[in-house]
Amino acid sequence: MRILVTGSTGKLGSALLHRLESSGYKIKLTSRRKPERMVNGEWVYSDLLSGEGLEEAVKDVDVIIHAATSPVKHSKIVEVSGFKEFLGKMQHIKNIIYPSIVGIDDIPFTYYKKKLEAEELLRKSAIPHTIVRSTQFHHFVENIFLSKPFFSRYIVPGNFKFQSVDVNEFAKHLIGLVEEEPQGRIADFAGPEILTLKEMAELKININNESNKVLSIALPGKLSKSFSEGKNTNPLQKHEGISFEEYLRDKVNETLLK
Ligand SMILES: NC(=O)c1ccc[n+]([C@@H]2O[C@H](COP(=O)([O-])OP(=O)(O)OC[C@H]3O[C@@H](n4cnc5c(N)ncnc54)[C@H](OP(=O)(O)O)[C@@H]3O)[C@@H](O)[C@H]2O)c1
Repeated sequence: MRILVTGSTGKLGSALLHRLESSGYKIKLTSRRKPERMVNGEWVYSDLLSGEGLEEAVKDVDVIIHAATSPVKHSKIVEVSGFKEFLGKMQHIKNIIYPSIVGIDDIPFTYYKKKLEAEELLRKSAIPHTIVRSTQFHHFVENIFLSKPFFSRYIVPGNFKFQSVDVNEFAKHLIGLVEEEPQGRIADFAGPEILTLKEMAELKININNESNKVLSIALPGKLSKSFSEGKNTNPLQKHEGISFEEYLRDKVNETLLK
């Protein structure tokens, strides 16, 4: 069995490669930049924007885990038209595993609309596939909303809800699907608890012993409403695992060990 991981320099891609290293599978990886830490596998340059290297990337591969994405820049091409071109080269593939995002049909966010279009392309294609939607990754929520305080305040839309999940656990889940039959869309993969962004900010402050405070603001609009209503969560698909609090504590411990 030979597995191709796209987006091999990304957060999910790196977590996949880390786990696949000791799996015994033959690994091929692709991205535009070469991963800093190469695993035992063949790296191929490919670009979903230009189409360069896509043919070479899928050659002699059985299963693909498609972790390449570009949420902001050229997202229409990378997520949809480039992805369509990529699918056109996959006639021999036994399963393409597509990580998607919980709630994308209910959240009016441009990137999520593209993810939905990509899911649709897969559904309509003859390529055997498995779509699994995950909630946001812990580090992603932290980086977007809690990366740094302004004037000793984390200024956040405090009523946004997240059910964030550990990226390594999602990677493990995806790798577990490699030996399975392609299943179309399967159950969502959601984190162990739902927290408001205010609660997440307070956890960070407590765990890091910070003197910062939280300034919770209300944002108008449909997009904000959907995050406040927790459309990006799925309480029925909770996976017991590393919580946001544990993720933050692990980061502190890692820093202390350095
Ligand atoms: N982040 C989250 O919280 C979250 C939650 C649920 C699901 N997901 C899904 O998980 C997947 C991976 O997300 P991530 O957060 O790991 O993304 P990421 O860290 O931003 O990584 C994106 C990867 O895509 C590659 N890439 C970007 N543009 C490309 C292009 N034009 N051609 C080829 N490769 C390109 C990047 O590598 P180069 O720049 O080197 O090419 C990088 O390796 C996505 O499908 C995302 O929707 C993410």
